[in-house]
Amino acid sequence: MNPSFPPAPVVERAAEPTESNIRELVYGFYDRVRADPLLGPVFEATLAGRWDDHLPKMCTFWGSLVLGAKQYRGNVQQAHQPLEGVEPQHFSRWLYLFLDTVESRYEPAAAVRFMEPALRIAQSLQLSRFGWDYKIPAEQEALLERVAPKRRPRDDEPHDGHAGVVSRRPPGEPFPTRIIGKAKDD
Ligand code: HEM
Repeated sequence: MNPSFPPAPVVERAAEPTESNIRELVYGFYDRVRADPLLGPVFEATLAGRWDDHLPKMCTFWGSLVLGAKQYRGNVQQAHQPLEGVEPQHFSRWLYLFLDTVESRYEPAAAVRFMEPALRIAQSLQLSRFGWDYKIPAEQEALLERVAPKRRPRDDEPHDGHAGVVSRRPPGEPFPTRIIGKAKDD
């Protein structure tokens, strides 16, 4: 898949997440979700008439994850169980749009604080729903590369032996900690 999305609006990138820029992120992200031909109908089917509840809840959710606000009291797994018609391609699109929106709004160090939990939770939702070991699609790899290029292994690190190929995670290894966590060690 090589999606061409309408670009995220150009805004000045924030160095630090705050309650107010998280609100802008969440509302900006869901504007794009709702306009997306693949995701829009899936969300609308469940949330029509309830967006005014959903969006503040998502601000609280991201505030809890990123600012440690600890106000979110929900069950993410449970909320996604009843959704009909959700397939791996929806997650892929969700993640691409989310990562792209985050990248357009935050400096890399701050962006990673959203991306890491997004990838981790998306992976766990997919695993519980599809038993699917998520492989990062090429366009997400490219986006992560722009934000956290240091995750590439150094020459002195163990290599997978494929000449000229960047070492990939072994199958089954939880990728977000491996890929994004790398930057912290460098
Ligand atoms: C294909 C991907 C996804 C779809 C289609 C989707 C769809 C939805 C929908 C329709 C709801 C509202 C459920 C309801 O109130 O009845 C919801 C809730 C929620 N979603 Fe997702 N979602 C997706 C991925 C994600 C991911 C990756 C995350 C986290 C990073 C996430 C976090 C949440 C949270 C926190 C809620 C609120 C749960 C609650 O009620 O407390 N979603 N999602």
